[in-house]
Amino acid sequence: MSALSLDPTARAVGRWENEGGTVSHNVRDQFPGLGNGWHYLDTAATAQKPQVVLDAMMRAGGVDYATVHRGVYARSANMTVAFEAARNRVARFMGAAPNEIVFVRGATEGINLVAQSWGPENVKSGDRIMLSQLEHHSNIVPWQMLAEKVGAYIDVCALTEDGQIDLDWLEAHLTPAHKLVSLAHVSNVLGSVLDARRAADAAHAVGAKLLLDGCQAAPRMRLDMSDLGCDFYVMSGHKLYGPTGVGVLWAQAETLDAMPPWQGGGAMIDRVSFAKTTYAPSPSRFEAGTPMIIEVIGLHAAIDFIDSFGPDAIFAHESALAAQTRDALRSVDSVTLYGPEQSAGIVSFSMEGLHPHDIGTILDEENVAIRAGHHCAQPLMDHLGVPATARASFGIYNDEDDVAALVRGLERVKRIFG
Ligand SMILES: Cc1ncc(COP(=O)(O)O)c(C=O)c1O
Repeated sequence: MSALSLDPTARAVGRWENEGGTVSHNVRDQFPGLGNGWHYLDTAATAQKPQVVLDAMMRAGGVDYATVHRGVYARSANMTVAFEAARNRVARFMGAAPNEIVFVRGATEGINLVAQSWGPENVKSGDRIMLSQLEHHSNIVPWQMLAEKVGAYIDVCALTEDGQIDLDWLEAHLTPAHKLVSLAHVSNVLGSVLDARRAADAAHAVGAKLLLDGCQAAPRMRLDMSDLGCDFYVMSGHKLYGPTGVGVLWAQAETLDAMPPWQGGGAMIDRVSFAKTTYAPSPSRFEAGTPMIIEVIGLHAAIDFIDSFGPDAIFAHESALAAQTRDALRSVDSVTLYGPEQSAGIVSFSMEGLHPHDIGTILDEENVAIRAGHHCAQPLMDHLGVPATARASFGIYNDEDDVAALVRGLERVKRIFG
């Protein structure tokens, strides 16, 4: 496979270009899922997988396959080295240390881990948890379950008119009763980007911790845990061009070390006896059972892949496409756009009198795949006053042709529905 489109100097000006400035379309060619002129605009739900990720997983599950952390034979020792190399790679990607990286099944599991392990130790009856109006259900329900269990309260941070988490509101409403603030780094519906540092300072000023849901930020933004200033960060492998079934929870080692285990089993123990069991240090303490070996190796390949483009170039590329889309949709009458003008590659919209499912169905006939629904963000839909929106979300493989196909498709939707 040619490494041309993985060139670290690749940059985006609407399309990916190589260093010589020649327009290169072969990013798409790296993705077996993107043939036949299919316009895939649902990367916020899950990203397509490049061949290098599929190849790495095929090797890990085939000729290299063995368990990790246990075997005395060479294949298992090699697999353990590869597994831990992936942890090092994730740590480097996040500007963190390897012992701060916990492998989980996805962002949802990472948030549940914090809610179930850190939660009851640190959130007590009468305490408060601050979320925001735009959170994904994965960053709402685990906290509701914790609040119910310990007798705590949930508060909901307001949004600005253009759909960003209102940090003025947050600063004005946080109190010492708040033990945790948990916010999306990038909204999966509106593409709004949080000023994470400011949110962290606001949380810390009242003694609260900040968890960032990085599902939508990790595939399109430079991550550095100390710059962000948060206390917990979660992300999902499948949104990062890697496999499903793997995600990451990051927290500082001293935070993880102070947290009790949440699931018991093999691999998370120091010594087991019926009289007393002691636990392994973190991160192993949080990785009970045989881990997702093949998926972790796939995640390593995915991070190598996207890092070869560089997060700044990816962000520029996808936000340029989102801006083009917003401009183009403004000219289609009856379209309402949601969210801020500066969106991280995600555009939500509706068309007057039409259910987003009808829009999505007609677009599908035109080979354009968008998401239509509540996007696992029903409280945000309530706030917008709609049951659902249509959403176009971009990845590194999209270009202006995809935007043009979307606009053509919407013109057809208009013709069909009058
Ligand atoms: C902002 C956000 N948070 C959390 C999730 C849940 O991620 P997963 O289903 O991979 O655990 C998603 C997935 O859509 C998301 O977009």
